[in-house]
Amino acid sequence: MLDYQGSGMSVMEMSHRSAEFVEIAAHAEADLRELMQVPDDYHVLFLQGGATTQFAAIPLNLTRPGDPVDYLDTGSWSKKAIKEAGKYCSVNVVASSADSNYDRVPAADQWQLSADARYLHLCSNETIGGVQFNQVPESAVPVVADMSSDILSRPVDVSAYGLIYAGAQKNIGPAGLTVVIVRKELCGRARGETPTPLDYAVQAEADSMSNTPPTYAWYLAGLVFKWVKEQGGLAGIQARNQAKADSLYTLIDGSNFYHSPVESANRSMMNVPFTLPDASLDKEFLAGAEARGLMNLKGHRSVGGMRASIYNAVPQTAVDALTGYMREFERERG
Ligand SMILES: Cc1ncc(COP(=O)(O)O)c(C=O)c1O
Repeated sequence: MLDYQGSGMSVMEMSHRSAEFVEIAAHAEADLRELMQVPDDYHVLFLQGGATTQFAAIPLNLTRPGDPVDYLDTGSWSKKAIKEAGKYCSVNVVASSADSNYDRVPAADQWQLSADARYLHLCSNETIGGVQFNQVPESAVPVVADMSSDILSRPVDVSAYGLIYAGAQKNIGPAGLTVVIVRKELCGRARGETPTPLDYAVQAEADSMSNTPPTYAWYLAGLVFKWVKEQGGLAGIQARNQAKADSLYTLIDGSNFYHSPVESANRSMMNVPFTLPDASLDKEFLAGAEARGLMNLKGHRSVGGMRASIYNAVPQTAVDALTGYMREFERERG
């Protein structure tokens, strides 16, 4: 942290234009491209502003005022993306699972796609509801995916998407960095009023340095990409993640005490919500969990109960500690 490779400087102190940082940035991009097998006709951008800023940047870059765009509504983050896009273009909600409290991805044969949408937007993993897509939908228009909470958790066919974006803070690195992977042919037609740092073509031309990028977060992301490679790349990471998720869902499904609110076909490998038979037990469950070092298990108020977020950095031993505690709690309270 304090002395990068004998330079006597922290990466935090370096100019983003320095030779050292330019090399750090290029290596990180190359490793991400390798991990996700990003085709050459895609830009990989390292931006600021979080996924929420992309909710606006996407329509600003890809549409003209009033253009039709298709959005799937599978949970809280889809809803936020829809609301923001509505400021810039005409949003058609293709299908929504709001009526069943976001417990699934609506079946593809029920989607009401528009004839002339500029793109189809989805959230590949709804962080709050724990609803995850299993496959890329077939689409005549570019598919745009918010992968904030499941990027790098499993292999992805980048070529099936027009644009992938993700806030870094789950599987990539510290907050403050946002990764955008966008097909080159979709860039270069941003609206005139698009803020310059949000214009994909400008940022691509400037190697994501049209303004000062989040340099330290970018550096740390590069270290995480190396770590993911050491885990056997995305196939290796997926196997670890699948094993972690399986141990939780197997326990939940084998119990009459715990319940998963999500349809089994769409259960997330990253965020596992579960409820206890009576919400009055929640407080006691959480207190016992915290006493064992099992933190941040309280579910979002829209779902209730608990939510175990088991991102790439969470080891199987942590999940084993949780399942051990869940069995113990059920024995005592069930
Ligand atoms: C799926 C998803 N999309 C968007 C966001 C918003 O991200 P940010 O806070 O980086 O704007 C989050 C939150 O972390 C998220 O989980």
